[in-house]
Amino acid sequence: MQSLNDLIAASLEAARSAQPIVSLTRLMEKTISQKEWLKQILPEAEEDETLLYLSDELTIYSIKLTPGVLYPPHSHGMPVVIGFYEGCETSLIFEQESGGNLRQIDRIDFDAPCVGHLEKDAIHCITNYGEITSRAIHYYLGDLVSEPRSLWNPDSMEVMPFDNGKYFEYAKPNSI
Ligand SMILES: [Fe+2]
Repeated sequence: MQSLNDLIAASLEAARSAQPIVSLTRLMEKTISQKEWLKQILPEAEEDETLLYLSDELTIYSIKLTPGVLYPPHSHGMPVVIGFYEGCETSLIFEQESGGNLRQIDRIDFDAPCVGHLEKDAIHCITNYGEITSRAIHYYLGDLVSEPRSLWNPDSMEVMPFDNGKYFEYAKPNSI
């Protein structure tokens, strides 16, 4: 593999394999072990979230997280494989109680380099408790942009259809 297109082609092949999560995980482990190469082939983007590929089969995002920011709870509606290659990131995992309220059931701390997974029905918040910007490649096993998914207002815990503008609007310091 040499270019971003090569990585996307290999990712699609893995997503189409008999065991997509296993294959994508293996590919991700190999990819994040070559951090300097990965940083070279990724676009020089200013955005925190850069869409690298989107189809019905697979969505690939390059995502960086600024230290100290807590993003609101959200769902994806599909399994996720995340390859962390710089910094650290924490995922707070929730479940929805019968009355609709969210209850935190887990906390997972990822320290690069490592690969993490989220179940299809996972609800989580992400934040960076570290001191440097964290960087990761995210594989979503479907079309994340078209998928109807949910976002929660972190103060009122009101649930609503996911909206990218609201997602950033609801971000707040992780120290409170
Ligand atoms: Fe997420």
